[in-house]
Amino acid sequence: MRPTPSWGPPSPEQLGWTLDRHIFERQRRVQGATGDFTGLFQSIALAGRMIAARVHKAGLSDVLGRVGATNVQGEEVQRLDVIANQILVRCVEAGGHVCVMASEENEDIIPIPPHFPHGKYVLMFDPLDGSSNIDVCMSIGTIFSVHRRLSKAGPGTREDCLQKGTEQVAAGYILYGSSTVLVYTTGQGVHGFTLDPLVGEFFLSHENIRIPKRGATYSVNEGNTLRWDPRVREWVAWLKSADAPGGQPYGHRYIGTLVADFHRTLLKGGIFAYPADDKNPSGKLRLLYECAPMAFIAEAAGGAATTGTRRVLDIEPEALHDRTPLFIGSAEDVADLERRLA
Ligand code: AHG
Ligand code: MN
Ligand code: MN
Repeated sequence: MRPTPSWGPPSPEQLGWTLDRHIFERQRRVQGATGDFTGLFQSIALAGRMIAARVHKAGLSDVLGRVGATNVQGEEVQRLDVIANQILVRCVEAGGHVCVMASEENEDIIPIPPHFPHGKYVLMFDPLDGSSNIDVCMSIGTIFSVHRRLSKAGPGTREDCLQKGTEQVAAGYILYGSSTVLVYTTGQGVHGFTLDPLVGEFFLSHENIRIPKRGATYSVNEGNTLRWDPRVREWVAWLKSADAPGGQPYGHRYIGTLVADFHRTLLKGGIFAYPADDKNPSGKLRLLYECAPMAFIAEAAGGAATTGTRRVLDIEPEALHDRTPLFIGSAEDVADLERRLA
């Protein structure tokens, strides 16, 4: 095993600890592992490196701006969304590890072309999260969620995709920020890898991430204040007051990219919220591509995720593009909110 866990630049012992090696090491410990999961992960990581390369030259190449279409959520599609979606589909479909995929950008399930083998996993993703931030050079990300198929064989089905968050076998995200970081969990331990763009490899940089029990930062789009349930308004007012836990007002950070706002919350503690509001009565964020994977990561790191009244991971999805309110982060900060909404 890798010797000393440490964060920051790799120590000499960490130099060879790539994402591949990390996943292989874990595969070796699972009896009867077929290597399918490892193969799927390699495809996702390849897609992440390819998207990162496009993201970091977005201003130079012709990938900025809108395609002129709207996606199934009724939002304008950004050109980089389409590219990231294609990259993920193409990198994964031929590997034989998944039987079906679903993406925030596609109205229906994404079947695996019949000439490729159908594997035992189901992959769902938000190919480009925070797409309104592309044109202004801010952090964006990719979110993914892996389930085991329910159907027996052949092409996967919509039902394979409509599983509760608790049934995930893995979830993760890739943050295209000041560096590119891939964070994933299989439910035990959350690990982060930083891309060395010159080498083209993800190196283990954040081993066994634990979210602080309580933080001192809240993250929410406060422009929506007037549209919230009054109890949410009171909760945010309390966080900003001298009565907040710790006896001083919480700080506020909001990027508008879930991946980036969640990553900060995971490392530093605190709470991220996208409550329901008059405009989005079921919340804005999508259960399958955004909330469930992030909830799986948060819980595996010792944190929590709720709709305000329910554990996010317990929600049975009814449709591919279901939305839900989300409050996620440090366990004690989430518990405070739940008490107020109870
Ligand atoms: P996407 O770009 O995949 O559609 O997701 C954007 C989401 C999420 O990343 C972020 O937390 C939220 O939208 C921001 O919404 P507001 O602009 O309403 O604050
Ligand atoms: Mn998103
Ligand atoms: Mn998106």
